[in-house]
Amino acid sequence: MTMKSAKPYIEENKQRFIDELIELLKIPSISADSAYKKDVILTAEAVKEQLEKAGCDTVEICETPGYPIVYGEKIIDKNLPTVLVYGHYDVQPPDPLELWTSPPFEPVVKETELHPEGAIFARGSCDDKGQMYMHVKALEYMTKTDQLPCNVKFMIEGEEEVGSVSLGWFIERNREKLANDVILISDTGMISKETPSITTGLRGLSYVEVEVTGPNRDLHSGLYGGAVANPINVLTKMIASLHDENNHITIPGFYDDVEELSKEEREKMAEAPFSLEDYKAALDIDDVYGEKGYSTNERNSIRPTLDVNGIWGGYIGEGAKTVIASKAFAKISMRLVPDQNWEKITELFKNHFESIAPKGVRVKVKPHHGGTAYVTPIDSLGYKAAEKAYEETFGKTPIPQRSGGSIPIVALFEKELKSKTILMGFGLDSDAIHSPNEHFGIWNYLKGIETIPQFYHFFTEMSK
Ligand code: BES
Ligand code: MN
Ligand code: MN
Repeated sequence: MTMKSAKPYIEENKQRFIDELIELLKIPSISADSAYKKDVILTAEAVKEQLEKAGCDTVEICETPGYPIVYGEKIIDKNLPTVLVYGHYDVQPPDPLELWTSPPFEPVVKETELHPEGAIFARGSCDDKGQMYMHVKALEYMTKTDQLPCNVKFMIEGEEEVGSVSLGWFIERNREKLANDVILISDTGMISKETPSITTGLRGLSYVEVEVTGPNRDLHSGLYGGAVANPINVLTKMIASLHDENNHITIPGFYDDVEELSKEEREKMAEAPFSLEDYKAALDIDDVYGEKGYSTNERNSIRPTLDVNGIWGGYIGEGAKTVIASKAFAKISMRLVPDQNWEKITELFKNHFESIAPKGVRVKVKPHHGGTAYVTPIDSLGYKAAEKAYEETFGKTPIPQRSGGSIPIVALFEKELKSKTILMGFGLDSDAIHSPNEHFGIWNYLKGIETIPQFYHFFTEMSK
């Protein structure tokens, strides 16, 4: 058996594939903002309907303590392998709204330099509705042309962007239902349209919020300024001290368990095509910045980091107000690498941050969520099948590449379901995920739909 190229089918149905995705993108499924609860649930229903249309035998909306999980399956033969597709239908908040060139939930196709065929501009177009929907359309192709070579299960969640809080709960209760031979996810990127790559690593995460309290009320900054601790001054000083002059993180014990790559592994990494000049130009920066002793690609994939994601306090309205705020806040994320335990890191952060607080303020550290890093071997059946799939549709062997992003559920899948995950991402760095003007190239979208069936084919063949 072979898997016929999906190209003719895609060509014939291209406009419909785009239109359907656009409909899905119109629903603002912002999981972080409870004002959008109805829309998040509506999106789950829309995904269910599309999975049914694409050929799943059963699709259900599974309730969880949080947002529902859409589960669908098509089991053709218990003796054949089973692919479990994971994706998420929730999206990041779109703000700052004023920086969007078109409204985030009114999708439009626009041409860009990298996407002369057009790209769909909308929140979630790439992360992850567009990439998730490639799998729905790939299933449609395989069922409508009678070529589905194995069993398939879909598990599409609605809380990924807020830490997949209910997914552990769901997996524990549905181990049998979710049993599979490989997990397939498109929620990452690739190097470029000319250089396909398969993501082999994800970073872990520890996310905390800190609160610094000084006096019991906001004070006149003239009457009290200089005589009491200013929580904003103190907080920024404390944050600044978390990195030393080499941009190493100063939290004691932070690097204790960090996996160090061998010289060979680092050399291999450095072979991936990368232009520092293009990187800087794309971001409009005159230089990069980061941990001493590591390249840009190492800094954003194999090294742990600490970043302030948001900081607030005091007066930020129009004009000037002379005030010493009672409180200052920040949200801080730490990206972690293999062998770092996120709960331990959260604890180390908490202890350290509390210990560096000067007298005159009180500090609270509130952990949000976390996740474990993931690295997948490149000699597994799944990886080999993915490699062949890309060779078939790109005419090139994909490059294995570790990413800096996090999908905490991937490590949990391995622990709980004992299966390997293959990350076949089709996004580009320039797609602006989580940023204003997120978009997904139509070429990338269709290439994904073309490549996924080949994975099913090779995975089934190689499993024999
Ligand atoms: N799809 C991204 C993760 C991603 C993007 C990984 C590109 C690799 C390449 C995912 O939706 C995401 O944004 N994850 C969050 C973590 C989550 C716990 C909020 C992240 O990485 O910030
Ligand atoms: Mn995502
Ligand atoms: Mn995301």
